[in-house]
Amino acid sequence: MEYKMIGLEHCDQVLEHLRRNFFADEPLNKAAGLCQNGSSCEALEDHCVEAIKDRMSLMAVDAKEEGNCKIAGVVLNGILRPKDMAKALGKLDSSYDEGFRKIFDLLYRHNLKNDLFEAFDVDRMFDVRILSVDSCYRGQGIANELVKQSVAVAKKNCFRLMKADATGIFSQKIFRSHGFEVFSEQHYAKHTDENGKMILPVESPHIKMQLLYKRICNDNQENKEQPH
Ligand code: ACO
Repeated sequence: MEYKMIGLEHCDQVLEHLRRNFFADEPLNKAAGLCQNGSSCEALEDHCVEAIKDRMSLMAVDAKEEGNCKIAGVVLNGILRPKDMAKALGKLDSSYDEGFRKIFDLLYRHNLKNDLFEAFDVDRMFDVRILSVDSCYRGQGIANELVKQSVAVAKKNCFRLMKADATGIFSQKIFRSHGFEVFSEQHYAKHTDENGKMILPVESPHIKMQLLYKRICNDNQENKEQPH
């Protein structure tokens, strides 16, 4: 497997990979019935392209399929600044797909309530937004390697803090194994409407989302500092 930085020229291939994997498989997308395998979701695609534009995303390419440049997995990383979440939440109006709105309303509100910018006094964060591995390549350590290389990209670009909203138990395990710590979490069963009905009926074994962070210092200090 070869690991490469994603450039804007790879957008179409990356989106095609995501339509066949992440868009239908990720626990919240599945709960919201966001899209069928292979179909597109304009709002989510825009969200992905925004991350790619920050030029810190990576892909795993199957070297055996070089001619076709088969993408086995991607991690889309973006730069997050203090007002971004509030702005994005303000834009989440009825023009968006209902499923997309439900998902991002949960994520944006959770992040605004559990403010990493305030806790760590940083003015930008390395945001691990989308982690996706093709279903044919899962269980081979690809996601682990994509997260490991993302940490290296964050260090190289002098970020002090990384974050991720991990929506399922496997991604939560992966981030924790790379030194991410849980800042806050939201149980899906407690995210209900006015009638007590779950807004996103996420399937077992996934029970909660976790907002995870990783402090980047020099190698000696890494992970020892705690939020205020
Ligand atoms: N069952 C049991 N354990 C699993 C499973 C599974 N289905 N998937 C991953 N794991 C465990 C592995 O055992 C491994 O543990 P180890 O390091 O102790 O050996 C660890 O998780 C990492 O496994 P990888 O092989 O690196 O993970 P993989 O390449 O299969 O990708 C991923 C995992 C990204 C979660 C993949 O299943 C996927 O794309 N799912 C759909 C999209 C999704 O949910 N993405 C994450 C959302 S959160 C976000 O994007 C920020």
